[in-house]
Amino acid sequence: MISLPLLMQQSELRQDSRMLWVECRIVDALRGRRRMRATAVKLPCSFWFLLLFGAGGLVLFIHLQDLSEMVQQQAPGVKLRGTARQSREALCTQDSEGVRVSPGQDQRPAVEGLTSPIPPMQFPAFQWTRHSATPGSREQDMGSLRVTKRHRKLLKTSPVVSNNSHNSSSSSSGSPDSPEESWQWHRLSHIQEARRRLMKEVCAKYKSSISRTITPHHVSRIYVEDKYKLLYCEVPKAGCSNWKRILMVLSGLASSTHEIKHDAVHYGNHLKRLDSFDRQGITQRLETYTKVLFVREPLERLVSAFRDKFENPNTYYHPVFGKPIISKYRVNASKVALRTGSGVTFQEFMQYLLDVHRPVGMDIHWEPTSQLCSPCLLDYNFIGKFETMEEEANFLLRRTGAPHNLTFPSFKDRNPKAERTSTHLTHRYFAQLSTSERQRAYDFYYMDYLMFNYSKPFKDLY
Ligand SMILES: *[C@@H]1O[C@H](CO)[C@@H](O)[C@H](O)[C@H]1NC(C)=O
Ligand SMILES: *[C@@H]1O[C@H](CO)[C@@H](O)[C@H](O)[C@H]1NC(C)=O
Ligand SMILES: *[C@@H]1O[C@H](CO)[C@@H](O)[C@H](O)[C@H]1NC(C)=O
Ligand SMILES: *[C@@H]1O[C@H](CO)[C@@H](O)[C@H](O)[C@H]1NC(C)=O
Ligand SMILES: *[C@@H]1O[C@H](CO)[C@@H](O)[C@H](O)[C@H]1NC(C)=O
Repeated sequence: MISLPLLMQQSELRQDSRMLWVECRIVDALRGRRRMRATAVKLPCSFWFLLLFGAGGLVLFIHLQDLSEMVQQQAPGVKLRGTARQSREALCTQDSEGVRVSPGQDQRPAVEGLTSPIPPMQFPAFQWTRHSATPGSREQDMGSLRVTKRHRKLLKTSPVVSNNSHNSSSSSSGSPDSPEESWQWHRLSHIQEARRRLMKEVCAKYKSSISRTITPHHVSRIYVEDKYKLLYCEVPKAGCSNWKRILMVLSGLASSTHEIKHDAVHYGNHLKRLDSFDRQGITQRLETYTKVLFVREPLERLVSAFRDKFENPNTYYHPVFGKPIISKYRVNASKVALRTGSGVTFQEFMQYLLDVHRPVGMDIHWEPTSQLCSPCLLDYNFIGKFETMEEEANFLLRRTGAPHNLTFPSFKDRNPKAERTSTHLTHRYFAQLSTSERQRAYDFYYMDYLMFNYSKPFKDLY
């Protein structure tokens, strides 16, 4: 039995080591980008990391010796980050959610793959390679005859596609209905393979060599659908409300996505999160379910979040984020603005986001996807993109054998009358910033850009 204070201490220690690692990674990333060869620069960081771990172990040992003293040192209210993640109930666009109100705490690139001093769940390194051949063999498979063979194999070996998929005459779920659909599936399968391959490459390049461990925190943003064996990691502002509608229909909580109102999606649903299961339940689902992630162009997602939370009345984001942002970054702020926290400008918001000493913590709506969903640790089977959401979501639904009349909805939940956040609109917002601010915004989301193959948003960036 490890006492609570010790756990707290450990989690803080872990936080420290994570911070260092993060800094290392950022440095690595930047250097790597400039030189295109990151191998040589990895050494110093790894070295410092090892050193820190050594020191950490020593500190832990000393603390173990002195438990009783520690109990007194640890005041109540110490952050228990990582062990008990707050706001389980929190949902993707719910307002009172996801914020870690921990002033000054920088939540930059949390790195997966860190060993935590807290006894973590040990997982084997998941290999879901059944429907992705080795990279080398892939290109050779492009011959027409082999394509069909391979295509069928792809479908058959998908973890969720049912038994009957080899029966091509059967039009039951999990099989394409027509030759056109068959080719579309083939194309989309290849896109998936390319995305997963790229992500593995990026992860391999930037991940630590330290053993991979998964804690409940890593899976706290993942929704579970047991009937169709789906795990969906919610990424706010990347179609997550509509995905929740889908999950609710799949699990029988509703018969159609159309009947689910916005509030029901976010407050009244009974979707389960993966971290609500015990260790075995988590492991088993991670190993056998289809793990799904939908991503979006990082800066568009950011602008979308800003518009949603700050350009519209909001009883949570204005007081909790708006007030500290205005009071720190606005010169001669009016009393009204300081009191309500309303009217944060995009520039002020970006100052907050890029500030190493943020006056208020991070939030899931602008936290990089590479941190929210731990893609290097969880090896997602399906990486969809918001930009091609409908096609890809429907492909996934058909492949998982979802009812044929269930298709991905196109509701725009928040502020339906407002213009959708587009590339054009995003550029208009970023035009208000300096080149150096744009560069820092890009750097902030750099891992997302790399992992999900989004191209550089502005020409003048490096
Ligand atoms: C496939 O079907 C056969 C017989 O219908 C059954 O025995 C087998 O368990 C099924 N396999 C899977 C993976 O569902
Ligand atoms: C394949 O389809 C045919 C015709 O639809 C059906 O008779 C047969 O039972 C199916 N076989 C399997 C294994 O599903
Ligand atoms: C990345 O995207 C470009 C187009 O923007 C595409 O040509 C390329 O194949 C993609 N790379 C991977 C690994 O998906
Ligand atoms: C889909 O079909 C099921 C029955 O097969 C029905 O209960 C449901 O309402 C239908 N959904 C839609 C969106 O039509
Ligand atoms: C702030 O207010 C003071 C006094 O009203 C004024 O002199 C000063 O120029 C203002 N500063 C800015 C940046 O507006």
